[in-house]
Amino acid sequence: MELNEKIPNNVNLSSDRRLQRALERWQPAYLDWWREMGPEGFQDHHKIYLRTAISADASGWAQFGHVKLPDYRWGIFLSEPVPDRRIGFGDMMGKPAWQEVPGEFRNVLRRLIVTQGDTEPASVEQQRELGQICPSLYDLRNLFQVNVEEGRHLWAMVYLLHSYFGRDGREEAEALLERRSGNEDSPRILGAFNEPITNWVDFFMFTFFTDRDGKYQLLALAESGFDPLSRTTRFMLTEEAHHMFVGETGVMRIIERTAEVMNEMGGVSEDVRKHGAIDLPTVQKYLNFWFSVSLDLFGGEISSNAATYFANGIKGRDHEDKREEHTALEQQYDLMVPENGKLSEQSVALRNAMNEVLRDGYIADCQRGVDRWNKALEKAGLSDRLSLPSRRFHRAIGIYRDHCFDPEGNLISREQYEAKKGDWLPSRADGEFIQSLMSKPIYETGQIAAWLAPPKRGINGQPFEFEYVRTDA
Ligand SMILES: [Fe+2]
Ligand SMILES: [Fe+2]
Repeated sequence: MELNEKIPNNVNLSSDRRLQRALERWQPAYLDWWREMGPEGFQDHHKIYLRTAISADASGWAQFGHVKLPDYRWGIFLSEPVPDRRIGFGDMMGKPAWQEVPGEFRNVLRRLIVTQGDTEPASVEQQRELGQICPSLYDLRNLFQVNVEEGRHLWAMVYLLHSYFGRDGREEAEALLERRSGNEDSPRILGAFNEPITNWVDFFMFTFFTDRDGKYQLLALAESGFDPLSRTTRFMLTEEAHHMFVGETGVMRIIERTAEVMNEMGGVSEDVRKHGAIDLPTVQKYLNFWFSVSLDLFGGEISSNAATYFANGIKGRDHEDKREEHTALEQQYDLMVPENGKLSEQSVALRNAMNEVLRDGYIADCQRGVDRWNKALEKAGLSDRLSLPSRRFHRAIGIYRDHCFDPEGNLISREQYEAKKGDWLPSRADGEFIQSLMSKPIYETGQIAAWLAPPKRGINGQPFEFEYVRTDA
């Protein structure tokens, strides 16, 4: 463990002077990017109660303390190697995992690492203004925790690019600091990471749905035959869990507050807004939006690229070791395909449906969260429920794009879709209402905005009334 180096790490960085120097040159560029595109207004005069990764051990890999954001110790941490690790799927099954990049897979591996890496700074950019309208210091701290860890995930991918991809890896690492979320000329690579996040409902939905896409991509990469990528992503997953916790409990706390207001009003959902809470139909619209744009991140339903990644041991399925069969040969996957104005079932080779297999795991994981939200509604004595829309609804990538579906997944005409869109997705008026709830930030210790319930517990055993963010002039 090299914790006191310029770049904290558990990869014995000081033994490779060239690599160390290259990363130490990238570090100031990263800090410039962080100051320019990281949380606005919280760089120099605030100390945040953050957890910092200090090892990759199962027992206690983090320490907590108040730090200024630019002083956060971004480091490089890989999970412990698995002795004699073998590739667990595809045509390479049983062969030793690669410690270097095989020449024939160099381009695809670089592309996968760059695409994953690009999402990390993108989300920091998307969320940079949220601190100005935070609902409590507890939530403000959670936002910044997510932000610094996405920054660390960028470090994780840049480490791989610098270590294993030579000159083009270094150039890609620079480009990762140059693209900007939502920028017309040089946008981030994936669609959902160019969507603006201007309010906390978006933020909670993003951390629930879009960070969970990240979880599934990381689970698939954790299976990779390229061992350094596998070890890197395994440690990232431990941090990712907190991001989804922020999303799930954030939406939960919105619902709890809404249920409280509805019960005060005798169970009716009209006028919830007048009492400063967010009505459930609006929550459902934001859920529909973020679920559908996150589904797009898995790529096309039928994909020969996905088949090649799987065949070659580059990217597996989530939890490959829990599956019975690991070649995915001679198996079929059935899916609904829109053709001649109707949906019909088609069978494709399983390897070509690997994106869809990963999406299935993701959807089931999302459903578990929605079930917990519905439990809370039930407990509050309300009959309203939230639900995931069909995977066909509001898609911009894959076989369902260019067709219109309702949230139940029925194929409908463009006219029908346009007429009902405002019931299914956030309208401009919904956005204005949400924004109006958040026009002022809550920076007082122990206070919380009217549209959100306080958390059951604080962070790291601290109470909700803890000073999670301190001013430090
Ligand atoms: Fe991340
Ligand atoms: Fe994340």
